[in-house]
Amino acid sequence: MIRLERVTKSFAGKEGAAAALDGVDLSVAKGEIFGVIGSSGAGKSTLVRLINLLERPSGGDVFVAGERVTEARGERLRALRRSIGMVFQHFNLLSARTVAGNVAYPLELTGEYGKAEISGRVAALLARVGLSEHAGKYPRQLSGGQKQRVGIARALACEPSVLLCDEATSALDPQTTGAVLDLLRQINRDLGVTIVLITHEMDVIRRTCDRVAVLDRGRVVEEGPVTDVFLHPRHPATLRLVREAEPDGGSLDAVAGADLGGRTVRLTFTGPAAHKPILGRIARENLVDYAILAGRVGHIRETPYAQFIVSLSGRDVAGAIAGLRASGVDVELQGGAPLAPPEERPRHVV
Ligand SMILES: Nc1ncnc2c1ncn2[C@@H]1O[C@H](COP(=O)(O)OP(=O)(O)O)[C@@H](O)[C@H]1O
Ligand SMILES: [Mg+2]
Repeated sequence: MIRLERVTKSFAGKEGAAAALDGVDLSVAKGEIFGVIGSSGAGKSTLVRLINLLERPSGGDVFVAGERVTEARGERLRALRRSIGMVFQHFNLLSARTVAGNVAYPLELTGEYGKAEISGRVAALLARVGLSEHAGKYPRQLSGGQKQRVGIARALACEPSVLLCDEATSALDPQTTGAVLDLLRQINRDLGVTIVLITHEMDVIRRTCDRVAVLDRGRVVEEGPVTDVFLHPRHPATLRLVREAEPDGGSLDAVAGADLGGRTVRLTFTGPAAHKPILGRIARENLVDYAILAGRVGHIRETPYAQFIVSLSGRDVAGAIAGLRASGVDVELQGGAPLAPPEERPRHVV
């Protein structure tokens, strides 16, 4: 649906040109929710402005729906822009227009719709985002979450194939954030709209996205399914972002390198394995003791996960590790000589 090939974007600065994006390759499939995460200044908003065709890259190519858009001009460029809906952090609503007036605005701009058609469409859009009761209110009368629902309805008005959300929940409290992310997922399911979600928060990615790319200083440093990237972060920038999302600041990585005697392993249970009493059974079978040093449990979208750093000691530690793996548990050895060749993880990490 969206493809970026070796995209660079430089801005002229005091000390010559600085690259905000530096050779970015990205591919977003039709119908998926794709996350782009990075800390402040990583180049996220620059990426957004290239995808929504507000700016052109300094180098490389951008494709939308198979079309090279880098060279599009005039009417074609306007049509392409209309196929991409934008949701902003600070909503960007027109304060002098009502809720309905804000949602109608992009439809009025096209000049293609009559009054009756516009009001019919606006009513359907407001129903979709749960704001039918508030059609006549002004933005100042709405909560932050309601304002963002107006922003989402407006972004959907011209029936875009892509919804681009740049920090869409960053101005909202956690509960409202959850509700807005649920709405985006609902829209993705109902309309099949491809969503690109730009954020600096790993929790937003964890709850919402299928795949994620980690942007660091203008480069994609890691990319893959959210379960892989979130549970097995490889690049320091990813580790930092995952750690920020941990309630106690990332105890898992704090103990990962510690020498505590025994064999320290990182165990990851996902899906049904997260709810099964696997560890105790295998410890008993192999006459092994275990100490849980750190851990986290939760969900990645609907998939439950549990991840622990455990120190194993006793009769048959190698047998216990083999048994865990046979039961579908991902076992990563932490430091020391490997008991078995490290498993290959085919994932793009720079
Ligand atoms: N119009 C611009 N002119 C000059 N520098 C810019 C411009 N837009 C962005 N930058 C620079 O590009 C880098 C990435 O910025 P941005 O894309 O806004 O990052 P993010 O959205 O991830 O915080 C920053 O160093 C920023 O200062
Ligand atoms: Mg930004």
